[in-house]
Amino acid sequence: MGRRPIVMANWKMNKLPDEARAYIKDVAAVVQAYPDVEPILAGQDVLLQTMVDAAEGTHIEIGAENVYWKEEGAYTGETSPKVVASLGVQYVIIGHSERRHYFRETDEMVNLKALAALKNHLSPIIALDESIQVVSPNAHMHWIVNQVIEALKGVTNDQMAQVVLAYEPTQAIGSGMAMNADLAQKDLYMIRETVSDMFNAEIAENLRILYGGSVKPENVYEIMRQTDIDGVLVGNSALDPDNFAELVKLAH
Ligand code: G3P
Repeated sequence: MGRRPIVMANWKMNKLPDEARAYIKDVAAVVQAYPDVEPILAGQDVLLQTMVDAAEGTHIEIGAENVYWKEEGAYTGETSPKVVASLGVQYVIIGHSERRHYFRETDEMVNLKALAALKNHLSPIIALDESIQVVSPNAHMHWIVNQVIEALKGVTNDQMAQVVLAYEPTQAIGSGMAMNADLAQKDLYMIRETVSDMFNAEIAENLRILYGGSVKPENVYEIMRQTDIDGVLVGNSALDPDNFAELVKLAH
């Protein structure tokens, strides 16, 4: 059985509750015609309940953009994975490039968050970035492989069925310039090989890996046709519901 493609919007810190409801209503009608593609919308914590309610009865899945690694306690301002899961949210983005850069999330924090998400039955979409300081091809490869190894420490073979990885080269995020699809394929192949070495070939074969960074309807076909790219994680372009629906159509 092939890997089911994912088209995921990351709304980041955008949208009001009314806009979230209207967006989901708009895209629901279109994406229902493409059940082979899994549509996922990620929004701010304060929008999650609204999003889950609006998506009820559709096959749209909802994701959080971050969680803490503790389930409860005196951690003012943090969000518990247990509470997020209790809302009916299925996914959570862990270690997005913006979390790593603006909020100083380390590989260790990413790993703790991924483990906490899995424990609470949230599927982590673990984002791997690429530092702008990485200058040589070897350093680039080492950087990515190391992130995969650190993020997946302690994850069991069974839990790997719930994990999704997302590769987002920093320069491509929000720049309007997606990475060349053939080069992205090379990086995703290397990520899959790393997972094969850490776990086994079957787990690697079943793992879904996304590409993110300036994906839009104009380039999604070229990106999605790559062997190891199983979906896209989309920021700016997917703020528009028509674009999101179009991305789902083109990924089908
Ligand atoms: O998580 C998606 C993201 O970081 C890519 O953003 O705006 O380049 O599609 P964008």
